[in-house]
Amino acid sequence: MIISIANSKGGVGKSTLAVHLAAWLHAQGHTVTLADCDTQHSSSEWIREAIPEVKIVRLDDANAILDQLPQLAQETDYVVADGPGSQTETSLALLLRAELAIVPCKASMLEVRALAKATDVLRRAQDIRQGLPEAVIVLSMIGKNYRLTKDMKDAAAALKLPMARNALTLRQIYADAPGQAKVVWQMGSRAKEAATEVENVFHEILPSAVRSKQLRKSREKVA
Ligand SMILES: Nc1ncnc2c1ncn2[C@@H]1O[C@H](COP(=O)(O)OP(=O)(O)O)[C@@H](O)[C@H]1O
Ligand SMILES: [Mg+2]
Repeated sequence: MIISIANSKGGVGKSTLAVHLAAWLHAQGHTVTLADCDTQHSSSEWIREAIPEVKIVRLDDANAILDQLPQLAQETDYVVADGPGSQTETSLALLLRAELAIVPCKASMLEVRALAKATDVLRRAQDIRQGLPEAVIVLSMIGKNYRLTKDMKDAAAALKLPMARNALTLRQIYADAPGQAKVVWQMGSRAKEAATEVENVFHEILPSAVRSKQLRKSREKVA
């Protein structure tokens, strides 16, 4: 399965989500490729140290993405593609190949309004592919006393994009993680709440990827 992290705005939490998703899928016992399609290469450098078992590829242009993603999807159970922060052909290519698009969005009215523009490319892909890829908004960097306002719900509904119930909170630990080359559940007790919320987000949006501990153990034995 190819999952693309898509929002053509920078700094919304794409790479953070991509790295944690790849790491979480690996922890569930799946084989995973992280396709780093951002020329800054931040997610591939981060995951290389955090979870060396995740395969890394860097695909910088649309042709490479269109050509190589299907093959990569044959080689590992999941391909997580971290997209660039711009509306390029690269973004479109990713969405033409993905089965699921996860759209991180900062939780403010301004950001949700900006989503219409930031998801233009997604709509183009869905138009070409008769509704595919399936897409879901995940709110990132929500404040402690945050409430999802009716305005924000309406704005998301107008885009015909579902919004995950679970979200990622604004926490220093996420900003510290890449510097330590770790994902939050490798960062001890200080990161416990973050680890739980990440887990909750992925359980909600990818229930079919969840593996029980027992199943994971028996798979490890076979491997
Ligand atoms: N939930 C969060 N809480 C605090 N900081 C965050 C959170 N998610 C991401 N960040 C930080 O915000 C910045 C942008 O995140 P990043 O994942 O690189 O976004 P993008 O890939 O969309 O540009 C980074 O410095 C990152 O460490
Ligand atoms: Mg990024």
